Amino acid sequence: MIAEDARPKTQPPVAVLTARDPKDQAARFLEQGAVLLLPDLDFDTAGFEAAMFAQLSDEASKNVSYNPATGELKGTTVEGPVRDQLAELVARYAKWSEDLVRELLPAYSSGLQIGRTSYRPRSADHNMSKRKDDRRLHVDAFPSTPMQGRRILRVFRNVNPNGESRFWRVGEPFADYAGRFLPRARPMAPGLGGLMQALGITRGRRTAYDALMLQLHDQAKDDDAYQAAAPHWDVSFPPGATWLVFTDAVVHAALGGRYAFEQTFYLPVACMENPAASPLKTLERLTGKVLA
Ligand code: SIN
Ligand code: FE
Repeated sequence: MIAEDARPKTQPPVAVLTARDPKDQAARFLEQGAVLLLPDLDFDTAGFEAAMFAQLSDEASKNVSYNPATGELKGTTVEGPVRDQLAELVARYAKWSEDLVRELLPAYSSGLQIGRTSYRPRSADHNMSKRKDDRRLHVDAFPSTPMQGRRILRVFRNVNPNGESRFWRVGEPFADYAGRFLPRARPMAPGLGGLMQALGITRGRRTAYDALMLQLHDQAKDDDAYQAAAPHWDVSFPPGATWLVFTDAVVHAALGGRYAFEQTFYLPVACMENPAASPLKTLERLTGKVLA
């Protein structure tokens, strides 16, 4: 079932999948650029209040970040048993979201790569630079982790204990967004990708695809006129909601809300039901170049 509640009418922003709905449409909805909302899943945080509502303050970071591959927890100054409890909870969320993706999107399973987990206890800060400000519409692109064409799939969950929703803005279809900003994008200097990798600036080689995606991210966030006038829907996610999004193609902004979990996955384009819907293939079509 598609819930369409606001302008523009060119694309469904949110596809709702309840426990009773068949799962076989999930990949199609996601690949078409919908936010896939799962309103009735359980993820129990009872008993973990001390960790969730601790003063997690680390001035340098807005989120707590966890690496499921190494068990490393970053972005918090909390120590002792509360830290252990936080690590346990975030690790459980990582496992829970991986199980969810494997069940809901079995075709992705063979190529699925597990990225970072985050806990987001705070709402966006008013004192950050435009480019770091996720309240501004953007698609995700990582400066130090080149995707080389792979998709970014994220699983979010609102665990707010005070009944407060998380508020998002969802923008225009990726092809429209890319078409708008591509004319201003500059090609990457030859050899730069290899150099950045050799210097340890990036984990892996930044490709022409990554360079373009970073520019699409930065240009949109820098552009006050775009932020003020871009087509959008506003969407709210109540406590207990889980939502999946390809954040490299769904133009989004997090306007407000506290206490959410997020798990990142990377997915080779070849695992998609419709690889032509990927940002890689879309940008290759629009530029007439091989980008990764
Ligand atoms: C983002 O990816 O821009 C932030 C999403 C969120 O924290 O809800
Ligand atoms: Fe984002």
